[in-house]
Amino acid sequence: MRIFSGIQPSGDPHIGNFSGGFRQYAQTQERGEGFFCIVDLHAITITHDPAALRDGTLDIAAMLFATGLDPGRSTVFVQSHVTAHAEAAWLLSSVTGHGQLGRMTQFKERVAEEEFVSAALFTYPVLMAGDILLYRTDIVPIGEDQRQHLELTRDIAQRFNTRYGETFVIPEGVFPETGGRVMNLQEPTLKMSKSRGAESGTVLMLDSPDTIRKKLKTAVTDSGSEVRYDPDEKPGISNLIELMTVVTGKSIQEIEATYEGTGYGRFKEDIAEGIIELLEPIKARYNELRADAAELDRLLALGAEKAREASAPTLARMYERMGFTRP
Ligand code: TYM
Repeated sequence: MRIFSGIQPSGDPHIGNFSGGFRQYAQTQERGEGFFCIVDLHAITITHDPAALRDGTLDIAAMLFATGLDPGRSTVFVQSHVTAHAEAAWLLSSVTGHGQLGRMTQFKERVAEEEFVSAALFTYPVLMAGDILLYRTDIVPIGEDQRQHLELTRDIAQRFNTRYGETFVIPEGVFPETGGRVMNLQEPTLKMSKSRGAESGTVLMLDSPDTIRKKLKTAVTDSGSEVRYDPDEKPGISNLIELMTVVTGKSIQEIEATYEGTGYGRFKEDIAEGIIELLEPIKARYNELRADAAELDRLLALGAEKAREASAPTLARMYERMGFTRP
């Protein structure tokens, strides 16, 4: 079983990334051969700061190991270190519909916000499809916001297979049961994000305990005082209940029962403490790993070597089936 996922090295990772990303990576690596990619090529689709990209790449590497990826077992690498990704994206763009890309929700949202819309922002899902397909991936652990991109990946794979013969495995998404779409605590109808929404509503994985307490305390809740899960009527409290399931492993029903009649105050305090307890050991490991950049570079070089080996046969097959002559 092949597992592949990617995460952008832009902006500080938050508790939504933990829920849809990091915790799922650590869980799924047990199920087979895992490839976890720091997608730096994706990070340039919106205006970026070169120095921040350089630092962010090592930040995310340290966080991937701190949250449980085992370099002895899984391959952790940087996208730009494996040139097959950029090549695959070009080849696959020829079997991707222009109209299909225009229908991507994330693209449409960005277009509405960005002053400068790059061509890379438009073709980004093709690069993502290449990431996944190069490894003949069976499962892709991701959050809900990537569901549409994965559907597109499956379409692209099928179109290529139909045109040029069976080449790609059709990948399946793996989504968390709860916490697949963590919302901004200040704007519970907006996804928590590295780059958008109120900062005071975004809980960063490296926030101090006091900052976490403050952010939870001021989280927007709904009218009434009942801790009840109902995303339509009570988006604020429902988001907090989901966060509670992520940090404690308890079910929604258990949480509702625990807080019956207690009101929002204690509930919010308990979530804050739960998040702190979850993140403190991760932060300690992160700080240790991040302090040794040479060791991170060494691990990423090993990862790139393994990723090159694993992706090269698929890329060669793509060129061959499409009719390219090879040197
Ligand atoms: P990125 O870097 O935005 O996010 C990394 C992972 O975190 C998840 N996530 C969330 N989950 C729950 N609630 C949230 N609020 C939340 N915000 C982010 C994302 O779903 C993701 O799993 N395009 C991808 C990166 C990528 C990729 C790939 C992923 C590139 N190639 C191949 C899988 C396979 C992205 O921008 O993720």
